[in-house]
Amino acid sequence: MNNFTSVNEVANPNKLVQQVLDIKQNTSYPKVGENKSLALIFFNPSLRTRMSTQKAAQNIGMDVTMMNIDADTWNIEFENGTVMDGSTQEHIKDAVQIISGYCDLMGVRTFANLQNRHKDYEEEVLSKFLEYSSVPIISLESAIRHPLQSLADLTTIAESKIQKPKVVLSWVPHPKKLPQAVANSFLEWIVETDAEITLTHPKGYELSKEFTDGIPISNNQKKALKNADFIYAKNWSSYSNYGQTPEVAQNWVITAKKMNLSNQGKFMHCLPIRRNVVASDEVIDNSLVYQQAKNREHAAQAVLQNIVEAL
Ligand code: CP
Repeated sequence: MNNFTSVNEVANPNKLVQQVLDIKQNTSYPKVGENKSLALIFFNPSLRTRMSTQKAAQNIGMDVTMMNIDADTWNIEFENGTVMDGSTQEHIKDAVQIISGYCDLMGVRTFANLQNRHKDYEEEVLSKFLEYSSVPIISLESAIRHPLQSLADLTTIAESKIQKPKVVLSWVPHPKKLPQAVANSFLEWIVETDAEITLTHPKGYELSKEFTDGIPISNNQKKALKNADFIYAKNWSSYSNYGQTPEVAQNWVITAKKMNLSNQGKFMHCLPIRRNVVASDEVIDNSLVYQQAKNREHAAQAVLQNIVEAL
């Protein structure tokens, strides 16, 4: 493995999930990261990704540096050829080349801005890191994908040992406009497993066909939840009416009553979660969300180990 920005860079996703499970079983980790350094660059806030990736790196002996772009450094210019006489002081081309000179591996978090679909789906910022970095890049969530989250999610599902689990990805309400990254990524990873996946969302919240091709889609949440083993809840804004949040008449909150439609299904969410907006307290308190969050550490460690060993 060189970069880790989507499932497409992983030769065998199921083998990688098994590696994550093996790491979780062992507490004596190989110090393959000794004398190597990891720079974690955040354009957006984070709790889990930041702490789990730092912990994973430390588990294998790596040194970690973190930077919050908004708070810690100059305003970054992304456009080529710009006369930089305004508010930006450092060009992304210069910043990435310089940061990659200080580390052996770089992680970057850069959310969709939800203003321009073309720029987001072309991965405007991540692609510049890939272009200008001289070291491997790990996505800590990009405009359209969140692969470390998806790897932890698949690991969590695999831990149940259910053969051919029925998994439902359900759109849920949220007061803010959110990107499609977690949902896109979950779909492109889950189709690599033996799971039977169904996507449910209100009309107007269709995801990009790039991620939903061949996946059964229902606009009837209750029908979709029937007999599900896992209910993965996530909000996203509209792809077709990009970044907008068309009104939804029906109630899409996950409640205990809705969970009862499932096959004693387990509730999953990437977190952070707005309680009693996305799902009820009762649902969240009886869910897999902490297991998912813990698996973020083991997933990050597997990815770091593979990349460091290939350096
Ligand atoms: N799930 C997740 O990526 O959490 P953070 O945004 O807190 O990192």
